[in-house]
Amino acid sequence: MNQHTNPDREARSILIANDRGGYTIPTEGLYPYQWNWDSAIAALGFAQFDLDRAWTEIETLFTGQWDDGMVPHILFHQQDEGYFPGPDVWGCNGPIPSSGIIQPPIAATMTRKIWEQDTAFGDARMKALFPKLLAWHRWIMKWRLDEFGAVCTTHPWEAGRDNAPDWDNSMARMDASDVGEYQRRDTSHVNSEDRPTKFDYDRYIKLVQIGRKAGWDQQELLTLNPFRVADPTMTFTTLRAARDLLVISEQLGLDAEGLSADIEKLETGAHSLWNEELGSFDARDAHTGEMADSVSNASYLCWYAGIESDKMLERLKTTLATVPYPVPSYDPEMPKFDARRYWRGPTWAFMNMMIGFGLQDLGHTEQADQLRQKTGDLISGFGFAEYFDPKTGSPAGGKAFTWTAAVWLHWAGRA
Ligand code: GLC
Repeated sequence: MNQHTNPDREARSILIANDRGGYTIPTEGLYPYQWNWDSAIAALGFAQFDLDRAWTEIETLFTGQWDDGMVPHILFHQQDEGYFPGPDVWGCNGPIPSSGIIQPPIAATMTRKIWEQDTAFGDARMKALFPKLLAWHRWIMKWRLDEFGAVCTTHPWEAGRDNAPDWDNSMARMDASDVGEYQRRDTSHVNSEDRPTKFDYDRYIKLVQIGRKAGWDQQELLTLNPFRVADPTMTFTTLRAARDLLVISEQLGLDAEGLSADIEKLETGAHSLWNEELGSFDARDAHTGEMADSVSNASYLCWYAGIESDKMLERLKTTLATVPYPVPSYDPEMPKFDARRYWRGPTWAFMNMMIGFGLQDLGHTEQADQLRQKTGDLISGFGFAEYFDPKTGSPAGGKAFTWTAAVWLHWAGRA
């Protein structure tokens, strides 16, 4: 274990080094563009030492918003050959070259936190951002809900948990035999054993091809896209966003028609993801109705969404007591658990922080503190890696990672 003697300083310098002028890349090499939910977390980190820069991060993200309200998962502000698939593969026509899918909508929630911290200029900047945040929320309500009110992901990258076991059955049903030749770039930056497999990657690219062929027309994609999975990440983050937008609108006297109804609908959707047999919140294929049988770290975002669950709390207590570096992205007791392969086992500090926010909000202070403490030990002990082995703490993936640094500054490194 490599002790990091001044993690505060290290975290700040990571954010500054990954700053590309108005936006932050997740990490040099592997992820050289602006990612949607990474930026929302980055902003929380900046808020600890530069509030103005924190706002700018979110404002830059919204310069990429499409006319219909959609906010892309990647903004390709400048070309970089080190990443695939780039803007030429996505073929999108937004104001900034971008991907054609979204990511979990955590921007409203993180912006609310920055606004509450910024008593000097917060109101003015929030008022300017609010209509954009609301437009994105409405876009999600229009295009991503399933029949039960849960929110769907239309690409594994959209939920931000690329190769999670949640998608295995839905991916297995997809035919990607005609995907053609392409050159992955991720495995030239990091160990391929830690990354999604070729089977998965073929399907990621195939889904991009399908979207592009449809001109990213959401109406068409409702029928054309073979991958549509209602999932805890999208559902819980959208519900939380709706609650935060409502609070902001009330406090600033802004129009936010429909939000209360959205919250009710999303609450029903969130409860519909409860898998009684599994005893956990779970993902559900929207085409087949089949549950994924996956206990993931996203399952524990229920509190973040304001949803109480005694059973999830029991599960979390067990995990905190038995896994040295929780919360694993997939239940270590389940056969598909893989301690190093990305979203199939490893622990992600920013997910822990969001779980921690929820626990704190619903009064589970003891668990929130434990999780924060353990995440702090992980980062101060093993550094600012992209993610960590939940059993040994061993760091993996990209290094000097923006959101791990932000989590330290905003949450895990605070006594
Ligand atoms: C990976 C992660 C995703 C993240 C992106 C940039 O694709 O799965 O959640 O946003 O990298 O860090």
